[in-house]
Amino acid sequence: MTEEISGRVCLSADSLDETISSRPESSDFEKILDGALSRRDFLSRSVRLGLSSFLVGIGVTMSASGRTAQGSVRFIDSFESVKASTADTITLPPGFDWQVVVKWGDPLWSQGIDFDDSSRGTGQSQELAFGDNNDGMALFITTDGRNLLAVNNEYINRGLIYGNRASRQPETADDVRKGKAAHGVCIVELVEKDGQWRVVRDSPYNRKITPDTAFEITGPLRGHPAMKTAADPEGIEALGTWNNCGSGRTPWGTYLACEENFNGYFSSIDPNFQPDDAMKRYGISGQDRGYRWATYDERFDVGRHPNEPNRAGFVVEIDPANPKSKPRKLTALGRFKHENAELVIAADGRVVVYMGDDERGEYLYRFVSDGQYRSDSKNNHELLTRGTLYVARFYGHEKGEWLPLIPETTGMSKAEIALHTRMAASKAGGTTMDRPEWVAASPDNSQVLCCLTNNINRGVKTNQGGDETPVGGPNPRARNLYGQIVRWRPEGKDHAANTFIWDLFVLAGNPEVHRDGRSGSTNIHSDNMFNSPDGLAFDTLGNLWIGTDGNYSNQGNFAGMGNNQLLIGDVETGEIKRFLVGPRESEVTGITWSADYKTVFVGIQHPGERGGSSFPRGSDNVPQSCVIAIRHRDGTRIG
Ligand code: FEO
Ligand code: CA
Ligand code: CA
Ligand code: CA
Repeated sequence: MTEEISGRVCLSADSLDETISSRPESSDFEKILDGALSRRDFLSRSVRLGLSSFLVGIGVTMSASGRTAQGSVRFIDSFESVKASTADTITLPPGFDWQVVVKWGDPLWSQGIDFDDSSRGTGQSQELAFGDNNDGMALFITTDGRNLLAVNNEYINRGLIYGNRASRQPETADDVRKGKAAHGVCIVELVEKDGQWRVVRDSPYNRKITPDTAFEITGPLRGHPAMKTAADPEGIEALGTWNNCGSGRTPWGTYLACEENFNGYFSSIDPNFQPDDAMKRYGISGQDRGYRWATYDERFDVGRHPNEPNRAGFVVEIDPANPKSKPRKLTALGRFKHENAELVIAADGRVVVYMGDDERGEYLYRFVSDGQYRSDSKNNHELLTRGTLYVARFYGHEKGEWLPLIPETTGMSKAEIALHTRMAASKAGGTTMDRPEWVAASPDNSQVLCCLTNNINRGVKTNQGGDETPVGGPNPRARNLYGQIVRWRPEGKDHAANTFIWDLFVLAGNPEVHRDGRSGSTNIHSDNMFNSPDGLAFDTLGNLWIGTDGNYSNQGNFAGMGNNQLLIGDVETGEIKRFLVGPRESEVTGITWSADYKTVFVGIQHPGERGGSSFPRGSDNVPQSCVIAIRHRDGTRIG
C-alpha cells in the first residue's frame, strides 16, 4: 500500500497505525556501507576474472533449459535502460511490447457485465468480475496445459470504487457488498494466441475467493479456544481472506496468498470498546477506517466478536487447479501482517518459508517444517501445518542467526506463538526491521534477499510492542526514506541452517539531491534511482526483479525518480538497471512468468489513487489496476 509521502498521509494502514514522536538518533551507517561496498567490489572483480561459481551454475541452467535466443548475453545487458518518467503509461526498453490482460471490473463469466464508469459496478457485478488493486500473483500450468493465473486483490481504492458517490465512501449495504467482492483472490484462466493473452470467460477454473469464502483452519490454532466464535463454535472454519498482499507458490502446485493489513477491516459500534494489548500490537481498534464492513456484517464488529480478528493475519493456501477445493489458513506460519511467502526446500528436504511482517519495526521470519518434502507424496500440503517459526537476528560483522520461537525462548505455547507471533518474536529478541516486504531466494540457494521498503520511525520510536528500533545493522539509516534490500547467505546453502552471513545488496537513495548516506550505495546512480523497493522475485536464470511502491512525487528528496518502476538486478555484480516505468500514482508489483518465459506478467496497482491517472484506457476514463503482459517483439525469453 502507499506510504506516507512528504507529510501527506495516504491510504496505508501502516501510516494510520503509527504517529511520529521524537527520539535521539545515532548511526553506524558508514561502517555498514563500507562493508557492503568492499564485498561488492570483490564480487565484481570475481566476475570479471570468471571466478564466479554462481555464474557457472547459471550457465549450466541456461543450456539445460535450451536458452539459445539470447546466447550468453546477460538479460541485464540485453536491453536499454529506461529513463525515469512521469508519463501516464507503461514505458519499456525498445523492442518490448505490453498489453493489458485483465483489469479491475472485467467480468470473468459471461453473465457478468462490462465495467461501467458511472456506477463503478454493483455488488452483483463485482462478484462476477476481477477485483481491485491486484498485487501478488503466480501463473500455474495444469497437467493438460492450461494457464491459470492466481492473483491477489489486496484492497480497494475507495475514492475510485465509490467515485459514484459524492462522499466517495460506501453508503449502502450494496456498496459494502461491492467493496468486499473486490477483495480476495481471483483464479483466472488465460490463453495466448499470436503473442496476445486474454481471459477465458466461463472457464471452469475461474474462481473468486472473497472475504466470505469458507476456509479450513489448519495448524496449531485449529480448534483452539481463541479461534472459536458464535458462528464457528469448534474453531475450525474461518470465513474469508482479505488484504492479500504478496504471494508464494509450493512445489506441489498450490498458491499462497498473504493476509497483510487485516486489522483495518474490524471496528465496533460500541464507542466504549477498548482493544487489549494483544489487539493493539496488531493495530486492531474499534474505529472504522472507511470500509464499513462491521456496519453490514457483524462478524467484523470486534466488540461483539472479539475472536474474529484472531482468524485473520495468516498465509492461506489455495489449489488453483481444483476449483472445488476448500482453501486453508496456515496458522503454523504465524499471524502477522504477512507480505509474501517465499518457499524453498532445505538440504534435507524440509520445507522452509521466508516471510516478512510489513510494519515499521516488525520482524523477518522463517518457518521450517517438521516433515520432508517428497515429490511423489500426495500429502505435501500437510508440511505447512507442523513446524517451527524463527525470527531473524542480525549482528554486526555480517553475521546473523535464526532464533526459534518455541516455549523455551518465549514462555508461550505453540498455539500462542502462532497467534501472537509478534509478541513471541519480541520475547525471543529478533531484530526490528525497516518494514520487510517481499523475500526472494536465488535459484541456486546461495542467497536470499528481502526488500526493506522504508521506515520513517527508524531510530525515532519503538514498534507497537515497545521494542527499540536502533539505527544499525541491516537498518543503517535513521528516518529511512528510501529503503534498502538486505541479503543473507544461508550457511552451506542450506535454508534450514540456523546461521547466515548478511550484507546489503543496495541502499536506495538520491545521489542527485544528497551527498550523505541518503545518496544510496555506489550501485545507485542518476539512471537507476528509485525508492521503496517492495516486490522482489528471481527468474530461473538468477536475475533479480525489483518492483517499487514509493514516493512518485518526482520532487524534493524524490526528484528525478519519476513514477514507480521495475528494475533488474545482478546479484553477483551489484548492477541495477531500470526495465519498466509504471503509470502515474501506481505501484509495480506481482511478477510472474509464462511457462516458456517469453512473457512476464506484471501487476500495476492503484494507478490514479489520487486522481492523477486514467490508466490504462486514457481519455479521462476511471483508472483501473490491472495485470499486464510484456513480450519481446522477437519472441525471445524475458529473464
Ligand atoms: Fe501490501 Fe507491504 O505491501
Ligand atoms: Ca500493494
Ligand atoms: Ca509497499
Ligand atoms: Ca507490498
